[in-house]
Amino acid sequence: MTANYDQLLELVKKRRSIRRFKSDPVPDACIDQIIEVARWAPSGFNMQPWEFVVVKKGELRRQIAEILQVYFSQLKEMEKNREPWQGEPWSVAGMTDLGGDFTQAPVYILLFGDPRTQAGLPMGVRYETHRQQMIHTSGLAHAFVYMHLAATTLGLASQWVSAVQTAYAHTRIKGLLGIPPQLEIYDLLALGYPAIGESGKFIRERQEMVHYDKGEGAPFRSDEEVRDFIRRARKWTMGQHRRVEK
Ligand SMILES: Cc1cc2nc3c(=O)[nH]c(=O)nc-3n(C[C@H](O)[C@H](O)[C@H](O)COP(=O)(O)O)c2cc1C
Repeated sequence: MTANYDQLLELVKKRRSIRRFKSDPVPDACIDQIIEVARWAPSGFNMQPWEFVVVKKGELRRQIAEILQVYFSQLKEMEKNREPWQGEPWSVAGMTDLGGDFTQAPVYILLFGDPRTQAGLPMGVRYETHRQQMIHTSGLAHAFVYMHLAATTLGLASQWVSAVQTAYAHTRIKGLLGIPPQLEIYDLLALGYPAIGESGKFIRERQEMVHYDKGEGAPFRSDEEVRDFIRRARKWTMGQHRRVEK
């Protein structure tokens, strides 16, 4: 079977963060299918450093959401200290209210990394802690994005909930779920049937980001151009959140 480019492009365009969920249950078969796809993700030296923890029990999900709320409250305060050029704080756009969105999702899939697998990397990276970490984390990122893509093909909505990486949430969630101390949380995927459609996407133009050989093609962006992009991207994203909040 030859993979079809058009179908791939269609899938990656269709995969979007959807942050409003119906409470309808997700069939176990779908969860298995999502994890099956992630299992095939590439990882550095094929170390497959992942463990998947599926949380379906409502009380556990409620407790996880409560733990994460601590961070969302802190974020709101921290955002007040943004540098003025960056524009309005995320909290104004209801970013912190996003904490409430994933609470409705009937399934959480937590992806854990097992740093012990780093001992399987070649000696060439054994004493390069930064590269070792990059290889480890990249593998987890691939598995995680594969899960999102698989969810899309099944008509399911998925949301990253990276606040699980904060020290407080990390510790408390591991304690709550009885996760062995050696494992580290990578991220949480909230999963369920979508309660809203996917929105448009603010995306950079291809011709602005492709560079050939020595300086042909698009010029690299200046500091001011990057700042301008940040302002526009943030404004756009906040507009989307407002649309969803209504
Ligand atoms: C590493 C990473 C962390 C992210 N963390 C969060 C998060 O904590 N909460 C959230 O709602 N979305 C999170 N996202 C989703 C991004 O906001 C989203 O991918 C981006 O805005 C582009 O939108 P799209 O996913 O709809 O294409 C994260 C995405 C990545 C790749």
